[in-house]
Amino acid sequence: MPEELDALLKEKRIFKPSAELLKNSNIYRWMEKNGIHGYDELLEEALKNPEWFWDELAGELEWFRPYNQIKKWDPPHAKWFLDGKFNIVHNALDRHARGPRKDKTAYIWEGESGEVQRLSYLELYREVNRFANALKKLGVSKGDTVSIYLPMIPELPIAMLACAKIGAPHSVVFSGFWAKAFKERINDAGSKVAITIDGFRRRGKLIRLKEAVDGILDETPTLEKLVVVKHEGLDLDMRKNRDIWWDEAVDGMEEDCETEEMDSEDLLFILYTSGTTGKPKGVVHVHGGYAVGVYATLKFVFDLKEDDIWWCAADIGWVTGHSYIVYGPLLLGATSILYEGTPNYPDPGRIWRMIEDYKVTVFYTAPTTVRMFMKYGTKWPEKHDLSSLRLLGSVGEPINPEAWIWYHKHIGGSKCPVMDTWWQTETGMHLITPLPISNLKPGSAVKPFPTVEADVLDDEGKHVKNGGGHLVIKSTWPSMFRTLYKDPERYVEAYWSKFPCVYLSGDVARVDEDGYFWVQGREDDVLNVAGHRISTAEVESALVSYHTVAEAAVVGKPHDVKGEDIYAFVMLKEGVKTGEELESILKDHVRKEIGPIATPSNIKIVSDLPKTRSGKIMRRVIKSLIKGEDVGDTSTLANPEAVDGLKKVL
Ligand code: WTA
Repeated sequence: MPEELDALLKEKRIFKPSAELLKNSNIYRWMEKNGIHGYDELLEEALKNPEWFWDELAGELEWFRPYNQIKKWDPPHAKWFLDGKFNIVHNALDRHARGPRKDKTAYIWEGESGEVQRLSYLELYREVNRFANALKKLGVSKGDTVSIYLPMIPELPIAMLACAKIGAPHSVVFSGFWAKAFKERINDAGSKVAITIDGFRRRGKLIRLKEAVDGILDETPTLEKLVVVKHEGLDLDMRKNRDIWWDEAVDGMEEDCETEEMDSEDLLFILYTSGTTGKPKGVVHVHGGYAVGVYATLKFVFDLKEDDIWWCAADIGWVTGHSYIVYGPLLLGATSILYEGTPNYPDPGRIWRMIEDYKVTVFYTAPTTVRMFMKYGTKWPEKHDLSSLRLLGSVGEPINPEAWIWYHKHIGGSKCPVMDTWWQTETGMHLITPLPISNLKPGSAVKPFPTVEADVLDDEGKHVKNGGGHLVIKSTWPSMFRTLYKDPERYVEAYWSKFPCVYLSGDVARVDEDGYFWVQGREDDVLNVAGHRISTAEVESALVSYHTVAEAAVVGKPHDVKGEDIYAFVMLKEGVKTGEELESILKDHVRKEIGPIATPSNIKIVSDLPKTRSGKIMRRVIKSLIKGEDVGDTSTLANPEAVDGLKKVL
């Protein structure tokens, strides 16, 4: 039997943390201090008294003026740490730069072509102050939203922190999006000032971002100034009175800049995320609650200590980067890796080499990345010494048990617990997640973070005992989004209307007999085959558990009788030969894993699947193709050429 299948069959195994890891963990020490004797007791006590839990943690941060009420929950609206005066940047930067951490490295940046830059807390503080002063000079005041369109370079966190420092909300647009997205977001936020770059490299290829931006700036009536980072040394056409180089903007600026005293509930950032309709939703986060939420989760879930080297291998353009590359690690005074490029460039050894070089201790990535590296095989990680690792993390989509086990064994050396963290742009922080004291089941995000009340409901709002249902949150949490920017009705309608006063996550999940949560995917990725609810993720996980399959995408094709017919598109591991009989073997495999109802009626072997730049498979595109419809806008795809490959097999 192939080794992977063997592992999968043992998937019901429970992985327990080592006694050493458990006893030294931040959460264990905190429980000892508070007289709590175990994971269940912690969850129980925190649910009973969430204010006690959050008050303790908020007390570890510095407030210009203490809050006088911990929370006000008036569903669907929450406020936290009321009347407190606070600034996230004071806590993430100022206090470290003025204290014993001033010479500690905040970021180790590595460019795609290998250059390295280290920034200590003091250096970062000075850069942020200089840029904050430059922003003020360009006319940015408290409350003005600055739009930022930058790749993974130090100027990105510097710009975000500079905005927050002077009370200007930031709106970061992922640099992998097309400039049209930047235009829409500048206009939605009414930005006067925006920031971009001359160009940057992706897999060695030069992307000329400023020139792309020039093409949209005639349609951004509010924009007055465009700051341009010189990164590739491109000779550009700079429009007079509008465009200014970053270096010129900071030239002569003071290294000190006062940090604005904000109200806890003042806007920190807007981050746009896609919804079921075409128009992106501007998710709004605030200074106080957001800071406390990301601080607490990073401290307890990933257990960061003074000498850890943390690498969250996401892009800052997504919420994972906002919370766990920029704000979380800086609030904890940690050292983080900031990597400009793609993980498998110039070869699939890149990230493993970096983990060895920088002695990374805690590593956080997405299941799609894990599956990609499974495809390349173990020879790449085996070339490197990964023994510095002590904890691993996963985020962004359900991690199939086979990928979990591979990650645990081949990256974590069978000694690093895998923290499968479930959360969203809207939640700001991990909501369902293991802690280092939890027993793990591969593929499960375990239980809600302390104080969070999660549940799985049927359409009538009743708790689902067996099978899947709507994943909901029944309590408020500090880093909950406060509204949708300029669209308060949509906030209520999209998230709080199906079940009154209950947060509808839009995901499907089930809870097992031990109270463990298994997130199955988005509701809109759920098929209905002959009245049975089947998650595309479940079928995909079954396919990927077959030893020659690297990745799979499952979509429903409308069917007269069954409602939907299951179509599967499968990518094989490198070097595996295809053949007609493989399709029937895979059908059989799914039948055995889930049942006849989940057996795809069609399986197509393909060489690539259409993905977003954050690595999520775009099922919408595949769905349109099998329905024979126009695939529409493919500008957000990382690999538009995959569409042609799919057309060939259909
Ligand atoms: C999915 C990313 C299963 C889920 C932080 C959610 C997950 C969406 C997990 C949010 C996980 C995220 N297990 N699914 N551990 N983490 N998701 O807003 O469908 O980019 O609703 O935030 O990703 O994506 P977003």
